[in-house]
Amino acid sequence: MSNTLTKPLGRLRLGVNIDHVATVRNARGGAYPDPLRAALLAQQAGADGITAHLREDRRHITDSDIEALSANLEIPLNFEMAATAEMQAIALRHKPHAVCIVPEKREERTTEGGLDVARDENALAHFIAPLRQAGCRVSLFIAADKAQVESAARIGASVVELHVGPYCDAIEDGDQAFAAAEFARIREMAALGHSLGLEVHAGHGITYNSVQSLSALPEIMELNIGHFIIGEAIFIGLEAAILKMRALMNEARTETFGEGAA
Ligand code: PXP
Repeated sequence: MSNTLTKPLGRLRLGVNIDHVATVRNARGGAYPDPLRAALLAQQAGADGITAHLREDRRHITDSDIEALSANLEIPLNFEMAATAEMQAIALRHKPHAVCIVPEKREERTTEGGLDVARDENALAHFIAPLRQAGCRVSLFIAADKAQVESAARIGASVVELHVGPYCDAIEDGDQAFAAAEFARIREMAALGHSLGLEVHAGHGITYNSVQSLSALPEIMELNIGHFIIGEAIFIGLEAAILKMRALMNEARTETFGEGAA
């Protein structure tokens, strides 16, 4: 299936992931830098949402960060979590705008792969039911793979976030052949997801070098970006890093689809 849309489905949203502000804080313990302060600054700079991943080992974001974000943000919170009973209870307590279910292994440095929805279809269907009932938009973080997209649609997820890490890493490494093959898969799966009634997001590893090609896909409605923006903020400041990412997204939408598409 290839893209049939000649215009984007809507404005491309930028979700800013603030996990690594907490990573820096936790390197020393104590209270700074404060992820809530970063989130409020991102909100002021035009972020459309804030993403935070409460990991089982609390290596960056903590329970009190989630409380502070829930209480103080005006833009939507996208709460990333593993499919565990503990995280489900926390999500049901805070009822964030969106819950993004990710796979999690203690030994990994970051989220390494997508969820295997096809394998765990029944268990995930039961797991997300109470979250859906509580009014959270349930997003599943999956590889750009047909079986995964189809399973996500079958179990009633609202959103799939396509794991674009391998594509973005290939761009950074200059591996053009691999990047082209990955991009073709992402494009196909974005179109398939949309055709099955899913909202399609993309995330992981996005930088200034990869954001524009992804922004040019008409079905993609949201990009979630963290590590690169927080790293860039060290050099140019958080507001400037977000504004530059936003400008690149707008430029790609406009160049691909014409004025008014950003
Ligand atoms: N989306 C999901 C589901 C993720 O797990 C992550 C990483 O926590 C991101 C987006 C952001 O990725 P990055 O920090 O590489 O921009």
